[in-house]
Amino acid sequence: MNEQTQNQKQQMPKEKDWWKKAVFYQVYPKSFQDTNHDGTGDLNGVTQHLDDLQDLGITGIWMSPFFQSPQADNGYDISDYRQIDPSFGTMQDMERLIEQAHERGISIVIDLVLNHTSEKHPWFLEAKKSRNNPYHDYYIWQDKKPNDMGSIFGGSAWQYVPEIDQYYFHQYLPAQPDLNWSNPKVRQEIYDVVRFWKEKGVNGFRLDALDVIGKDPANGIAIQGPKLHEYIREMSAEVFDDPSIVTMGEAWSADVDEARLYSNPDGSELSMVFQFEQMMLDYGKEKWDAGPLPLVTFKKTIRKWQNGLQETGWNPLFLENHDLPRIISRWADGSAKSAKMLAAMYLCLQGTPFIYQGQEIGMVNLPLPIEEYADMEVHNMYNARRALGIEEEHIMKGIHKMARDNARTPMQWSDQENAGFSDVKPWLPVNPNYKTINVQSERKDPDSVLNFYKKLIALRNTLPVIEDGTFDLIEEDNPDVFAYTRTNGRQKLTILCNFRKKPVPFEKKKQLNQEAELILSNEDLPSDLLRPYETSIYLEDLK
Ligand code: GLC
Ligand code: CA
Repeated sequence: MNEQTQNQKQQMPKEKDWWKKAVFYQVYPKSFQDTNHDGTGDLNGVTQHLDDLQDLGITGIWMSPFFQSPQADNGYDISDYRQIDPSFGTMQDMERLIEQAHERGISIVIDLVLNHTSEKHPWFLEAKKSRNNPYHDYYIWQDKKPNDMGSIFGGSAWQYVPEIDQYYFHQYLPAQPDLNWSNPKVRQEIYDVVRFWKEKGVNGFRLDALDVIGKDPANGIAIQGPKLHEYIREMSAEVFDDPSIVTMGEAWSADVDEARLYSNPDGSELSMVFQFEQMMLDYGKEKWDAGPLPLVTFKKTIRKWQNGLQETGWNPLFLENHDLPRIISRWADGSAKSAKMLAAMYLCLQGTPFIYQGQEIGMVNLPLPIEEYADMEVHNMYNARRALGIEEEHIMKGIHKMARDNARTPMQWSDQENAGFSDVKPWLPVNPNYKTINVQSERKDPDSVLNFYKKLIALRNTLPVIEDGTFDLIEEDNPDVFAYTRTNGRQKLTILCNFRKKPVPFEKKKQLNQEAELILSNEDLPSDLLRPYETSIYLEDLK
């Protein structure tokens, strides 16, 4: 360890479970800030905005991938885990970002894509040369297509390589061959990558597509394979057994029991896992057929997760990420008022919050004509559905509501050209509403979404009940209102959220003690009704 790295570590003292008090911000670097005039965001763009992020009150950043990559899936297809993709900058840029974040008390978490590599990774280039190449067994091969498992991005999950007359398995794109985790050499390679980045001073890892690493595709098993937890425990013992490191796995499939294993407080696996049960309740047959949010089911699902992990695990809290559309377009009307309501709804829960770039200013979906989408997921799905004879209008409706590119349009910094993201044409269109929805103007407006987020983050830091209180629903079958309390021995917090664009009756007087004090609201005057998209937070001292 060189002297510089040592200093960085000293600047970030990490007591056990420090991440339970952290507030994370997810940066999707390609869309955050361009500094070298090529229309795509870069690492220096993140460094440039560290003061803005510190001002927001966040204490950690999750960086989506910036490693060397052919960009078939925007960097989630890595061809060298130890190099920075030139489109994002250099290793020096990354070192500077880590150092400058640490100077501001901000941790850096990087995205570890360990389920698959790029087809251009040297391991795969070797692996497909011959059946007895030393790297062949780094991937998953079959002589005959063993089954008709499908890839998440459409088409078969088995890809034929004529040169060696074999098929390899890919859960995602053919350009993303799955690593063979049953090969101990592969696991050691991954641990070495983790060690490399720990040496650089990063404070944690988000583990991409974690619930598929234990797969047994020859027998049709993709998620939650038989050895999944064994692999995670081995990895944890080898490289994560260190209280200064936070780990969050992506596990779409996890239920509460699974999550208790993943986030066991004994530290045998990870700090927490992103599960998506509450984010899939509005799906129809598929996400592309999403309808309205079934609010009562949503509330009960949140309760299940809050209570289910209260003492026995830990929840990350999130409404958006780079794979999900903008929440206020999806579950509300896109207004600033609804943005504040949804923010209050999730930022007063128990867990570690994640705010996705732009969410804090109320960025909304951007519906585009099909040819303007960059994400291959959209195009694969569009073609597949057209081939099935599904109506164009229905397909486009699903895309406009749920496409991942909705969250990937450039960050809106100012009312300048291209929203201040870049001075040349950005890689994906900027939402034209940037003239009014942008960081610069919201910073000046005390009533902005941005300032509301700041207040909520500050609340989390001053009210321990948000970290340790128990969770209870109020009026659990109320179809319009999400109301809940957080209670510990000393304080009781009551959070009221009207999910409808109309006033709804709610007996505040019955539900709130006289002493309860209104501490934050997106309405000026308290009333007996909950106004459209109202959120109000009350605090009571318990004697
Ligand atoms: C994860 C990422 C997603 C990516 C996929 C394949 O789900 O979040 O963006 O496409 O893995 O790497
Ligand atoms: Ca750039």
